[in-house]
Amino acid sequence: MISQTMQQAINAQIQAEMYSSNLYLSMAAYCESIAMRGAAHWMRIQASEETAHALKFFEYVIQRNGRSLVQSVGAPPQEWKALRDMFEQALAHEKQVTGLIYKLYEQALAEKDYATQNLLQWFISEQVEEEANTTEIVAKLQMIGESSNALFWVDKELGKRGASQS
Ligand SMILES: [Fe+2]
Ligand SMILES: [Fe+2]
Repeated sequence: MISQTMQQAINAQIQAEMYSSNLYLSMAAYCESIAMRGAAHWMRIQASEETAHALKFFEYVIQRNGRSLVQSVGAPPQEWKALRDMFEQALAHEKQVTGLIYKLYEQALAEKDYATQNLLQWFISEQVEEEANTTEIVAKLQMIGESSNALFWVDKELGKRGASQS
């Protein structure tokens, strides 16, 4: 059985993952509003990955005979200055989430909760991947600057993202 403190911390993480999902869906809507359909596609996939993360934690708490909670999440921003600004915000957000996962891991270490440590190791790897992907996109957008021609190609590239397994 999961401890009360760990259960509470994971329920807070479910909430954080659902916020991430809403944030990326909001980014998808923004991308559509500026005719960046490839980036919108990329963000829709990202949003569904975040829902999958929330569900992974949700099912885990139940599996450990705990009580999963669905809690309210704040409204995400709706507008950004440009595609580059939006992806920079996405990267900053992922770094923040990595910090939350590390905090959870530290708690699991302190509680000698080996099962939760094991679950969190998957999330630690996932964060490495997510930060790397987003960093690469930010670097491309910073490189091309205001060139609408190059932006067109980056958008086309982002539109090729396949749905992931995670
Ligand atoms: Fe996530
Ligand atoms: Fe994420």
